[in-house]
Amino acid sequence: MKVYNNFSLKYFNTFGLNYTCETFIEVEYAEEIYSINKKYNLSQKKFLVLGEGSNILFTKDFDGIVLHPSFNNFTVEQEDSEHIYIKIEAGKNWDEFVRYTVEKNIGGIENLISIPGLVGAAPIQNIGAYGQEIKDTISFVHFFDFEKNVFRVYDNRQCSFGYRDSIFKNRLKNKIFITSIELKLDKNPKPVLDYYDVKNELMKNGIKNPTIKDISNIISKIRENKLPSPRMIGNAGSFFKNPIIDKNKFEALKRIYSNIPFFYLNENKVKIPAAWLIEKIGYKGKVNGNVATYHKQPLVLINLGNASGNEILDFANEIKNEILNQFDIDLELEVNVV
Ligand code: FAD
Ligand code: EPU
Repeated sequence: MKVYNNFSLKYFNTFGLNYTCETFIEVEYAEEIYSINKKYNLSQKKFLVLGEGSNILFTKDFDGIVLHPSFNNFTVEQEDSEHIYIKIEAGKNWDEFVRYTVEKNIGGIENLISIPGLVGAAPIQNIGAYGQEIKDTISFVHFFDFEKNVFRVYDNRQCSFGYRDSIFKNRLKNKIFITSIELKLDKNPKPVLDYYDVKNELMKNGIKNPTIKDISNIISKIRENKLPSPRMIGNAGSFFKNPIIDKNKFEALKRIYSNIPFFYLNENKVKIPAAWLIEKIGYKGKVNGNVATYHKQPLVLINLGNASGNEILDFANEIKNEILNQFDIDLELEVNVV
């Protein structure tokens, strides 16, 4: 392990906020967590596991211990004629791993290309994009439980995955350290082409029978055109979740806003894009001091350079209140506020 005191987190959060933590520990092997827990007695202390900080908003210096995994190997655990089972350690960059599978023509996570962050964080909010979610391929999540002081493993069902949700974001939040995940991937990829934007781009490019390489290339392009790169503009992707509302409420809204985009999850529940609501209240590209909504995708809040965490949070709350007043919909934050 490597230990740093009074450490700047500027390069460990994609909003680029210059907060510090009391102690930063780079964890170099999964097994080390056991001795770190013993040495620092973490179940009695304030601590945070941090990947790349691409889904986090710091609002102050962190007066505790930050644990960051740097172990990043992956191994093929098992193979048969149809599937390949790969175990990947927490510190591996997610996008790098996706690109590796695409190059090998192994299917299952190609639509999740270009999502920032580390593998260990991917199950926390069940990362998803363009019709795939990591829950569709995860077979096991390995983690250290600080309260019980043991390494444990959950199968897919035990993770209670949902839309941007899992047991790790709820009951086990801040109680565990995910050390690795196991994915069941396809040797004979089955393209997922549900998303309108993907189908549309493939058509525009005259691609009729796309390979997963074609799909991931198209998705990368769509994302580049729509989302700001954290290397250039501080942001944490979608700041809010897309709200899921009852059918009756949706139908009442549709009578007023006939063009409201929607997606029926089942016969009673409808998901609507938060980006549409934000645009509707006139906040697309709106600037408020050092913070703004991104002009191409207003669900993304951006740091114009010198924002503080609280300025970003205040602007998010302003958006939340406007939407509550105008639509009676209470947006839920996707980003973790610390
Ligand atoms: P962090 O931000 O470091 O941590 C996120 C949370 O997980 C924190 O609560 C942290 O304590 C916890 N955590 C992290 N690692 C561990 C671990 N090993 N064990 C236990 N807890 C841990 N997300 C999507 O789902 N779909 C998208 O399309 C998408 N697009 C994005 C685009 C941009 C430009 C950006 C900036 C973000 C986007 N995100 C998206 C959000 C983000 O990339 C994911 O949530 C990602 O999984 C976060 O990884 P991270 O390593 O940065 O996690
Ligand atoms: N829309 C508008 N105005 C806009 C932009 C979008 O009205 O300016 C409406 C359109 O109707 C559009 C719809 O919103 O069809 C959906 O937009 P988009 O395809 O950009 O996706 P999203 O719902 O805003 C979600 C995820 C993204 C993920 C994409 C692609 C959430 C909270 N966000 O965004 O994830 O990449 O779909 O699957 O579910 C993230 O979690 O950080 C993230 C970026």
